[in-house]
Amino acid sequence: MPLLSLPPDILLSILLLLRAQDILVVSQTCRILHEYTSSDYLWHQLATHNLPLDIDPYVDRNHLPGPKLQAIVTRALRVDNNWRRSNPRIRKLTRLAMDLENVSQLQFISSEWLVVLRRFPPSLSVWRVANIEQPYRAAVINLLDLPGLAVPLKFAAAMQAGCREVLIALILEPKASTRSGTLLYAYSVVLKSELDDAGSGTFALPSPRVVCSIHRPEAEGRFHELHVCGSIIAVGILQFRNYLSPVGYRILFINSATGVQCLVDPQVPTQFTQMHFKVSPRQLVIVGIHNESTLVVRTHDLPPAIFKQIPPNSTPSQPTLSAESLPDSTAQFESPLAISDVDFWYLSADSTHTSRISSISFHSLVRMAKDYIFHFPLDGRMDEGIIAKPSVSTFTTDSSASAEIVCLGETGSRAVWLQRRWTSDEYTLMKATFSPNGREPAVVQPLLARHLALPFELHRCQSLAFEEATGRVCLAVHTGELWLLQF
Ligand SMILES: *[C@@H]1O[C@H](CO)[C@@H](O)[C@H](O)[C@H]1NC(C)=O
Ligand SMILES: *[C@@H]1O[C@H](CO)[C@@H](O)[C@H](O)[C@H]1NC(C)=O
Repeated sequence: MPLLSLPPDILLSILLLLRAQDILVVSQTCRILHEYTSSDYLWHQLATHNLPLDIDPYVDRNHLPGPKLQAIVTRALRVDNNWRRSNPRIRKLTRLAMDLENVSQLQFISSEWLVVLRRFPPSLSVWRVANIEQPYRAAVINLLDLPGLAVPLKFAAAMQAGCREVLIALILEPKASTRSGTLLYAYSVVLKSELDDAGSGTFALPSPRVVCSIHRPEAEGRFHELHVCGSIIAVGILQFRNYLSPVGYRILFINSATGVQCLVDPQVPTQFTQMHFKVSPRQLVIVGIHNESTLVVRTHDLPPAIFKQIPPNSTPSQPTLSAESLPDSTAQFESPLAISDVDFWYLSADSTHTSRISSISFHSLVRMAKDYIFHFPLDGRMDEGIIAKPSVSTFTTDSSASAEIVCLGETGSRAVWLQRRWTSDEYTLMKATFSPNGREPAVVQPLLARHLALPFELHRCQSLAFEEATGRVCLAVHTGELWLLQF
């Protein structure tokens, strides 16, 4: 029976069995099949497995029209083909800046914007990198005039819905002896996606708005880790008895849209070490090592109090010092492996749409264990008391080398890191491709060909950022140069 005389629903079911790349071929064959392969339904249902897609923050792929999603998948397949090559082709190498010394952190927020933190002179800047031919600095936040000559330690940033505004939260340490402890500042910056005058490459920089400033005295603990998702800022607070033994952990949530704050006690067991957390639009994910032997991941709904609306013209009350407890855990995972040999591990990049969290760990030079990648699915709730196992795979890196700066993409499908070989002190940028559903083995290779002449030296690289879906890598070098590599 000819294919086209099949009933439409059967034809669609057949098409759904194909891979995205095959659908693109089918769509070229005739007008009728072209019509079928442009349908919204087909593109929403089509499994794209481990293919990271470049979709704007907060946008659900199932709300995109079929042809738009098709164009996104087509671009993603092109990036994927290049990425899997043993020496991916660098499509474009751009120098964003040459006078940015002392960069201590870089972060992509969506594929089109990059946030840069300089430790000295302290400042934050936001760069528009959508058009790689004409990148520009779209906003600057000068941090020199903050109280107490504060030194910035780290930031977290998230695009706000609509991609017109970015929220940047920053942890700082006061330098002046009059204050101790840590500071938290958060800024909202309106972004312009066009230059006022494309010819001259200039435009009036928008002024950042301070949306929150909190000083926490030493006795109440120190800000330690922070994440931003939508209008929610979450800051981890370590409370010490003395510097060697932290006694407690709290998470302070701030809703930057309403000013509501809420302090919670995540009730982590005392044998919990190397704890990190993440925030998604509705969930808090806590990850740590229990009893020096098990990687544990717990997810909770965000505390409902943080979404409380406050009546207009009233100021939200400050959080009480006694912390609330979190809603019960909605899912819990434990890794079946002993990972006591792991020195450092890293979580996947913050994102507004991943449905899983991934974690990568590298062998310790002393104990020669393996390298691991874990994937924990976050969609779906689990019944109380059920502990699921994540998908785990091992991979191998040079046993005499260590991973110095590590960037794991938001879906955990790709990673980039700076590797240092201790025997020869040789630095290499490495790339990895992982298969979160465990169907294919991990592939780890140098990102750049050995003979490639680069305009910067890798041993001078200070910070690294990686945007998984477009394969963009940004490097800040000691000399003050900021480079963007597009694959
Ligand atoms: C970078 O920081 C050092 C101090 O840490 C400072 O001496 C130097 O001037 C800074 N570079 C620039 C360009 O300000
Ligand atoms: C902690 O680990 C030790 C061995 O390292 C084991 O004997 C003990 O039962 C573990 N405790 C818990 C609560 O898992």
